[in-house]
Amino acid sequence: MNSVIKNKHEVWNQIKSKTDRMLEAIGNKSPHVAGADGRYDDMRLDWWTSGFWPGILWIVYDMTGDERYKNAAWDWDERLSERFLENHYFDHDVGFQFLPTAAIKYKLTGDADAARRALFAANFLAGRFNAQGSFIRAWNGDKHGWSIIDTMMNLSLLFWASEESGDPRFAHIARAHADMVMKQFIREDGSVHHIIRFDPMTGERAEAIGGQGAAPDSAWSRGAAWALYGLTNTYRYTGNPAYLGAAQRVANFFIASLPDHHVPSWDFRAEREGAEDIPRDSSAGSIAASGLLELADALHEPEGGGYGAAARRILSSLHEHYGTWNDSEHEGILLEGTGHKPAGQNVNVSLIYGDYFYVEAIAKINGWQHRIF
Ligand code: GLY
Repeated sequence: MNSVIKNKHEVWNQIKSKTDRMLEAIGNKSPHVAGADGRYDDMRLDWWTSGFWPGILWIVYDMTGDERYKNAAWDWDERLSERFLENHYFDHDVGFQFLPTAAIKYKLTGDADAARRALFAANFLAGRFNAQGSFIRAWNGDKHGWSIIDTMMNLSLLFWASEESGDPRFAHIARAHADMVMKQFIREDGSVHHIIRFDPMTGERAEAIGGQGAAPDSAWSRGAAWALYGLTNTYRYTGNPAYLGAAQRVANFFIASLPDHHVPSWDFRAEREGAEDIPRDSSAGSIAASGLLELADALHEPEGGGYGAAARRILSSLHEHYGTWNDSEHEGILLEGTGHKPAGQNVNVSLIYGDYFYVEAIAKINGWQHRIF
């Protein structure tokens, strides 16, 4: 029934075999999406997903000590940082890119260049803070007043930078953004907005926008997963119980909204909003599961406690029904991810972030201690 609890070592070995196969197939590509042919694409390096494949490599290296994974992961932080010197599109998501490359490389190897690169990225992220509205701005171009829930996961880069440099300004910004999120993004029932647009001059809230969810008042499941995980991290870094309470509220909503098979649809309120086609999003499942394991840890839950058990149910369902274990040609690990449903982009595909958070969660269940986020 709960295959991940019964066979955690076997599931880890399946992940290791899959990573070996990916190592051969992916080479220097920066994978983002694998469609029906099972081949990962090669996305540009400033795209928000470029840290996840090297992140998988660092975790598998840390778990096994096998230098092949370290060697394959080694250059990624340098490759990414070189893009800063060219015309680039880095944004609020640099945490997703530099935590699983530069920061973890520094943590595992002590490489000083990697630490400098992570600090550079943290400065870039801090520079996106709008003091009037207390938000880190999302994206680029003319979206000066936009803020999105995904940014909660990038705050760990700022907390890391304060710890590493001794300069508390990074953490001040991260806390101010998280306080804004609790007021503006998290609803009373624990559901979460994707986008809030502010007036960038006055800092006043202008409107909520549906973004990757079905509608402004819907419940995009991956957004809820980013929120519950990011709020738990913020609690871990600050010790402020308000963040823990908010993380639990979102987690309770997420768990209560899951269907019987434990893997979320792309938006928990898609039906209410009149959507006809409601795909699942396996990536929201793996992100939430890894975040729920953190929440269980933060609450010192005993083995078998509510959040940890919910995480294992999600991971088991993903393992049994969505894994590509029996298809050695498929470069992805999980099927049925949904990237951006309203835009019709990347629906029913493998997504590298779904794969990354699955690997991360299974590593945690097998005793991995070095957090990336
Ligand atoms: N950070 C973008 C997404 O979750 O699709």
